[in-house]
Amino acid sequence: MAVMEITEFPERVLKEVGAAVEEFDEGLEKLVADMFETMYAEEGVGLAAPQVGLSLRLFVMDCAGIKLVAANPEIVSVEGEQEGEEGCLSVGKIHAPLKRAERARLRAQDVKGEWFEREAEGLAARCFLHETDHCDGTLFIDHLSPLRRDMVKRRFQKMKRWR
Ligand code: NI
Repeated sequence: MAVMEITEFPERVLKEVGAAVEEFDEGLEKLVADMFETMYAEEGVGLAAPQVGLSLRLFVMDCAGIKLVAANPEIVSVEGEQEGEEGCLSVGKIHAPLKRAERARLRAQDVKGEWFEREAEGLAARCFLHETDHCDGTLFIDHLSPLRRDMVKRRFQKMKRWR
């Protein structure tokens, strides 16, 4: 297993719609293991393939008691609304308030290619939504108001200069 380098905003791959995962083989198992290791090393609760430079519809998460691999994820339904802060490893973990659905139902394939559905609420639902967005080339900052988005971008640019 190996820790991979995190792709950061504004790298192009983060804006691309990922390709479908089609091969459920040893290569995918190794990639998923590396993604989990990278996510834990960075103290994240979710990590999508574009965040390690791969334009693929794939994410891993371990958040609020839900640990899973999701290939070709889709959000099939959402309900309610939650307030809360959100951040992203690709944007230097800078947080901003972002309203999301309180509950979300995810449909995806596991590492063997088996389809499953899983429902989550609160933080885990937020994670489903955030990571599925990554697979479609959307970052959480894309959901913010232009003013708040610029604020996060500026803080991130400043942070990058200092490290
Ligand atoms: Ni993220």
